[in-house]
Amino acid sequence: MIEAKNVTKIFDSRKKGRIVAVNDVSFEVREGEIFGLLGPNGAGKTTSLRMISTLMKPTKGTIRVNGFDVVKEPKKVRKGLGFLTSDMKLYESLTPRELLIFFGRLNHLSDDVIEQRTEEISEYLDMKEFLDKKVGKLSTGMRQKAAISISLIHDPNVIVFDEPTNGLDVITAHTVTELLKDFKERNKSILISTHVMSVAEKVCDRIGILLKGKLKAVGTLDELREQFEMTDLEDIFFTLAREDDEIHV
Ligand SMILES: Nc1ncnc2c1ncn2[C@@H]1O[C@H](COP(=O)(O)OP(=O)(O)OP(=O)(O)O)[C@@H](O)[C@H]1O
Ligand SMILES: [Mg+2]
Repeated sequence: MIEAKNVTKIFDSRKKGRIVAVNDVSFEVREGEIFGLLGPNGAGKTTSLRMISTLMKPTKGTIRVNGFDVVKEPKKVRKGLGFLTSDMKLYESLTPRELLIFFGRLNHLSDDVIEQRTEEISEYLDMKEFLDKKVGKLSTGMRQKAAISISLIHDPNVIVFDEPTNGLDVITAHTVTELLKDFKERNKSILISTHVMSVAEKVCDRIGILLKGKLKAVGTLDELREQFEMTDLEDIFFTLAREDDEIHV
């Protein structure tokens, strides 16, 4: 379970000045649900996910993961949370198996448990053939699978994936979306970000539309359709973007 209440993140940099990356955002991700944050480049998706994953503190507001506050109890939050970041730099000279051991130990797992989890995850994600190849020699899809496997080594019940299918071919993207659906069946809470409407439509139980740091609408696809009296998510998105002066069409 993730609960974000009135969360704001302000960046103050000398170069760019003051940027309100996330502006008074509230939402929750329940157990057994896939929630998608849908927004264009720069909307504040990654910033939101980083705050939830304890990598960055909110300027204002509170976030709880499994009931634990991300600022006051970050260790407890991390124990139950798996974070996939789009800019994770994997160690090129290590193999996925070595990375799984490394991150498993960081998560205080015993070597026996790590071995067992590695077996399960690599079977599940069809990683066996490249488990012992150096990351530097892997394709984009293989790297993404490796990154996903690392985020899952400690069997978290809250999953936070930033743009999980970005850059993947249809087959690998399908493997990832099937994995998310499987987690949902296992009653985990899943939060993903995406800028791709079809991903939000196909994968998510509820969608939050994020524009310029503001959560403009939240609901199931059907609820959004009813609210805006439009069937196409793209039309709903553009209506909100126009309102917000995000685009000039
Ligand atoms: N560490 C930082 N310092 C200063 N500004 C930042 C920082 N991180 C993000 N920003 C700014 O915050 C805003 C939101 O960025 P963010 O990366 O959260 O967007 P996003 O929705 O993930 O976009 P994308 O689809 O391109 O990944 C942008 O204006 C960005 O320039
Ligand atoms: Mg991003």
